[in-house]
Amino acid sequence: MALSQLLIGLVSLCLTYGVSPVLARSTDKVPYCPVFYESSLLKNVVMRCKPVPETFLDFIPSDREVPQAEIEVLEDAFEALAVLQQVYFDSEAGTWPLANDWTAAVHETVMAGTLTTLTKALRSIHLRPFNDWKAKENLISFYYSQLVGSYFGQDILSIRGQAYDDILWVVLGWLEAVQFVTTHSKMHYPAQATNPTGSRSLEEALKSLPWHGNHWMPAFAHRSRVFWGLATSGWGDDLCHGGMTWNPRLRPYKNAITNELWISASVSMYQYFPGDNYSSPFVASSLYPSKDPAHLAAAIVGYKWLKDVNMTNARGLYVDGYHIDFSIPGNVECDMRDEMVYTYNQGVILTGQRGLYSVTGSPSYLEEGHNLIQSVINATGWSLEHNRPHDDLSVYPPGVLPPWHGLGRGGVLEEQCDSSATCSQDSQTFKAIYFHHLVAFCTDLEPISAAPHRIVNKRAYQILRTAHIESCRSYLGWVHHNVLAAMETVDLNGQFGMWWGAGLFNNTVVTRDGDGIDHSAENVTDYRNQGTPNDEIWGQDTQWLPGSGRWMPGDPNPIIGQSGNTDQQVLSRLSGMSKLAPDPVTDPNSRGRGRTGETQIGGLALLRAFWELSQLGRNQ
Ligand SMILES: *[C@@H]1O[C@H](CO)[C@@H](O)[C@H](O)[C@H]1NC(C)=O
Ligand SMILES: *[C@@H]1O[C@H](CO)[C@@H](O)[C@H](O)[C@H]1NC(C)=O
Ligand SMILES: *[C@@H]1O[C@H](CO)[C@@H](O)[C@H](O)[C@H]1NC(C)=O
Ligand SMILES: *[C@@H]1O[C@H](CO)[C@@H](O)[C@H](O)[C@H]1NC(C)=O
Ligand SMILES: *[C@@H]1O[C@H](CO)[C@@H](O)[C@H](O)[C@H]1NC(C)=O
Repeated sequence: MALSQLLIGLVSLCLTYGVSPVLARSTDKVPYCPVFYESSLLKNVVMRCKPVPETFLDFIPSDREVPQAEIEVLEDAFEALAVLQQVYFDSEAGTWPLANDWTAAVHETVMAGTLTTLTKALRSIHLRPFNDWKAKENLISFYYSQLVGSYFGQDILSIRGQAYDDILWVVLGWLEAVQFVTTHSKMHYPAQATNPTGSRSLEEALKSLPWHGNHWMPAFAHRSRVFWGLATSGWGDDLCHGGMTWNPRLRPYKNAITNELWISASVSMYQYFPGDNYSSPFVASSLYPSKDPAHLAAAIVGYKWLKDVNMTNARGLYVDGYHIDFSIPGNVECDMRDEMVYTYNQGVILTGQRGLYSVTGSPSYLEEGHNLIQSVINATGWSLEHNRPHDDLSVYPPGVLPPWHGLGRGGVLEEQCDSSATCSQDSQTFKAIYFHHLVAFCTDLEPISAAPHRIVNKRAYQILRTAHIESCRSYLGWVHHNVLAAMETVDLNGQFGMWWGAGLFNNTVVTRDGDGIDHSAENVTDYRNQGTPNDEIWGQDTQWLPGSGRWMPGDPNPIIGQSGNTDQQVLSRLSGMSKLAPDPVTDPNSRGRGRTGETQIGGLALLRAFWELSQLGRNQ
């Protein structure tokens, strides 16, 4: 139907305007040919499509030096993980006790992703003299046991009563754990995975037990499935013709984050959910298959809705969301847009786009993801084409920050609350989320498996894969620039600060009035830091306040005090970066909430991104 409408539209345009402008327009509307399709579905459909894109860049990448992450970067990432667990994790409670429910779920997600990176890296890297497998496996299992502990420390009863975005972080987190277990088992225990439940015969058990971590897969699968199911009631067609609402207890607000999470969690369920046979007090039925078409349909419909409602601004960045103007009687349209821009809204959708490409073979999802990444990089004040900041940073005297570009300055990704140290616990987590999903997006395109009735265009796949890797590698200069900046915020204990630009901009201390950002722009509500206003638009009887954790700004930092005895000897390069104890007067990152588990996973996710993007195409 869409196709015939398009053709009718083209014919009438031809009659009105003549031929040439129409041809230019028509190619824009024709979709890219998928790199594979199921012949059974397309038998009688005449597909008009254009060849896959040969590049996602609008410039020719010169043969400039691409920074490569060397082994030190892996060591730094490991150290960031070690500090995260030593300083912020409590094994007895099975959680990161200073995190709130949803930021703890993101801690778990970032940790699981890091374990996937670590197991891949340990396979290919020789660490003399500790190259024996037992030591490597022991290390992975050490962190994995903490990950499993956090399954039991997760406060599921509390999260069940929270907003739909809180619920969906849980889904993504345990699917990330599923992916880690799958990767680790396939890589290191290939032939043995025949008897997941174990055996009562000693000989059989030794012969056929898969990696022990598989034991927890059904639990992870179960929790992902239950929480995905809880989120389904957030979708509604009665307002805005679809979309997820953010919080059932507030006035309807359909925001980017809840919808992006819904899309990414749904397609990830389709890709990674291994099936669930648990029965539980919460659910009546007990048989849920993997590869459930309902998950895929939810992702596709959700993505189409998000694109059609237009949540991006003129710079190509996701704004925060839409209200419905209830001053118009009977109105159901998403027609009041909040223009606030946060970093995490640019990130979570990337997992959805990458997943939708994987399961449909359609290159447009990849193209839209690369466009978004490039819009973000540009909005940090970085020129991809020239591989340097837009502004010459040397001309700004101490105390003067380079200009704000929408999502950062001087080429460094920045939350609007970073430089003034006014971030809530929620927004302290956002940059970690961004880089976690950038890694998910920039993984190599997996080979397309053969299947009955599946037609694979191998040449198109190769072209697309080359374009994808080339683009992701072109982001390395920017990622490296951010790594260098963030490393300057690491303190004596190996703890990352929130505002990565602090060191790069000479530790200039600014307040919200003097940070160069227009915080009072029209229709911009920074509710993630300031809470929702009590007004007509957001609601007068209910107010939402951002997570404050158990530690209020201004209180002494409980972390730095109690962890002063971290053993410096085991720490590597990263701890050598800074030898100064943070001084609130000269260290902008000691202000506000200071260094936390949330800022630590930010540094960790960033280092992991640098490592993973550097590995792309290395073995070609
Ligand atoms: C669930 O149960 C079905 C039927 O009993 C079985 O075929 C399937 O393998 C089980 N799936 C999992 C993930 O245990
Ligand atoms: C979405 O809205 C923004 C801001 O009004 C506008 O600049 C942009 O062109 C719109 N995008 C689409 C695809 O309509
Ligand atoms: C890239 O950033 C520059 C500087 O902020 C801005 O002038 C330009 O419009 C941006 N380009 C795009 C495509 O958004
Ligand atoms: C602010 O929102 C109102 C209501 O949706 C709209 O009419 C107005 O154009 C918006 N202004 C800006 C600058 O986006
Ligand atoms: C940074 O500031 C300090 C003291 O304000 C000054 O001595 C130093 O030269 C500045 N460095 C740069 C690179 O501007």
